[in-house]
Amino acid sequence: MSKEYKRTLITTALPYTNGPVHIGHLAGVYVPADIYARYLRLCGRPVTLIGGSDEHGVPITLKARQEGVTPQDIVDRYHKLIKESFEGLGISFDIYSRTTSPIHHDTASEFFRHLYDKGEFIEKSSMQLYDPEAGQFLADRYVTGECPHCHNPKAYGDQCEACGTSLNVTDLINPKSAITGATPELRETRHWFLPLDKWEPALRHWILDGHKEWRTNVYGQCKSWLDMGLQPRAVSRDLSWGVPVPVEGAEGKVLYVWFDAPIGYISNTKELYPDSWEKWWKDPETRIINFIGKDNIVFHCIVFPAMLMAYGDGFQLPDNVPANEFLNLESDKISTSRNWAVWLHEYLADFPGKQDVLRYVLTANAPEAKDNDFTWRDFQARNNNELVAILGNFVNRALVLTHKYFDGIVPAAKPGPVEEALQAEIVTIKAQVSEAIETFHFREALNRAMDMARAGNRYLQETEPWKMAKTDMERTATVLNTAVQLCANLAIVFEPFLPFMSAHLVKMLGGDKISWDMIGCMDLVPTGARIQQPELLFEKIDDEAIDAQMKRLERIKEENKLKNWQPEPRQADVDFDTFMKADLRVGTVLECAKVPKADKLLRFLIDDGGLTPGGRTIVSGIAQHYADPAELVGKQVVFIANLPPRKLKGIVSDGMILSALNADGSLCVIAPSAPATPGAQVK
Ligand code: 2FM
Ligand code: ZN
Repeated sequence: MSKEYKRTLITTALPYTNGPVHIGHLAGVYVPADIYARYLRLCGRPVTLIGGSDEHGVPITLKARQEGVTPQDIVDRYHKLIKESFEGLGISFDIYSRTTSPIHHDTASEFFRHLYDKGEFIEKSSMQLYDPEAGQFLADRYVTGECPHCHNPKAYGDQCEACGTSLNVTDLINPKSAITGATPELRETRHWFLPLDKWEPALRHWILDGHKEWRTNVYGQCKSWLDMGLQPRAVSRDLSWGVPVPVEGAEGKVLYVWFDAPIGYISNTKELYPDSWEKWWKDPETRIINFIGKDNIVFHCIVFPAMLMAYGDGFQLPDNVPANEFLNLESDKISTSRNWAVWLHEYLADFPGKQDVLRYVLTANAPEAKDNDFTWRDFQARNNNELVAILGNFVNRALVLTHKYFDGIVPAAKPGPVEEALQAEIVTIKAQVSEAIETFHFREALNRAMDMARAGNRYLQETEPWKMAKTDMERTATVLNTAVQLCANLAIVFEPFLPFMSAHLVKMLGGDKISWDMIGCMDLVPTGARIQQPELLFEKIDDEAIDAQMKRLERIKEENKLKNWQPEPRQADVDFDTFMKADLRVGTVLECAKVPKADKLLRFLIDDGGLTPGGRTIVSGIAQHYADPAELVGKQVVFIANLPPRKLKGIVSDGMILSALNADGSLCVIAPSAPATPGAQVK
């Protein structure tokens, strides 16, 4: 950061309230934003962390329709759940409000009206999709169809999630109404458009010349949008749920959710600071930082800045937009609709007291430069091998030994060269962590903070106070005093990342207020102070807890398989005479065994009523569905009796056994509904 700002306004993408928040949201936006805010607060720099719910938009009305409740019911439910779970994880919002609040409706209306009065909109009619059965226009996610770019058949009217392209409803091939399934028709309707092309030169100059320091993914996406050329963008919709368009004759029209949502950052600041909000938005001495996920880049770097420029009146643009890539779960894309996620409220219930473990893992594995994967095994390993074995272990040893040799009273120190070197290392680490946080490299920052705990373990390993106590109590006192001071330094350096651990440690050390500039001091816990009986900061997570989570994911995978199962499409017609040539018979299984060296093959001996003397041999590729092939002996099957015999693994197979593959992947052989005579023909 080259310029010294007076204050920092941090905004976090306002999550849609059509479902709870999951680890993808946390890793992408809320954990990094909270680390940044906590760090600035510790540095004593004025900061405000803004959060809130995005309560408009089609996903919410669709969900309400599915459940037969009102959109207000949906947003009330999820706003409460999301707000409480963020609090549970220690996300230190200064305000967490909502876009259905009266102050937001007023602010968004006024914003639109101001642009309208200034003549900043183009008003025009266009042909839009209309569902004749539902009697309404179909905006955004009310339409699904084929993506014109990647041909994903399930693209939404505003975006294709398969290729990430942002779409207009009229771009979709074979559009279908998400409300009734009807094929929409085109009808004329009037809307207001923000001419983004008008702001293109200013945006180009601001981003491409002025913000080369932005993350490559953010800068690159902006450049590609700008290079493609910006078009006017509609900022209103024909919907009933949203902020009504505050213009006469606009009945039945609301502001586009992406017009009103970012204004939510302003309304929430207003709600928090009714008298002084303007300095957080209009003073060039305020630094604005927007934390978002990569799917929000265009709205925060192009659309909202164009809105702010059009508004004028001193509104400041963000100084940085640190967007993260996506987090996957066990190698699969996180998805609310497929329930493929670790939900924050469920995590908090399943792992009480382990908020910092999740914060740690999501930061250590943050998708800062590329998509990353969350796995439960990695979660367990990072807890057990890093938090417990490095950080927890050092603090525990330091405090237990101080109790053992000095009854928990911090002994006096006479620091020597080893202690001075350790202090210098702490000062270096502090600078590295600061540098990494200030440039939004939170993974790096966390790793450097962990170096401080590593340095502590090394120090104890090298000085061995448990041995030294037998011969040199004075030197032991110095070592344990130093170790206690290092614990205090750890409590501060980790506060932005692991605030629960930090508060616990500060309490054990009998401390009170902490600040970033204390890091590097070796007299944070005064000589003679009493420290509390040590309690473990972190505990091992056992296999059982992880297995339970893995089982849950397996169950969800199975449920999704069943939900998404589709019968194979109907095959090409076969003429009647050809079909009638197939000779289908009932047989009784006399023997059934696995074919050696062939995973998939079972060898059947079938009683076919004497058609084949000694029984008929059929080799069938269904071995993987039967752990014990003997269970088929005595069962009846249906087989095709007049196929030309063919050799499989050296065995001549004379026929084909009929079976059906179920939605859950299991298989059943086709059998007569009552005992039938072997050799009987199936007609
Ligand atoms: O992607 C989303 O979840 C949006 N609700 C983010 C909105 S960010 C801001 F503009 F409010
Ligand atoms: Zn696509």
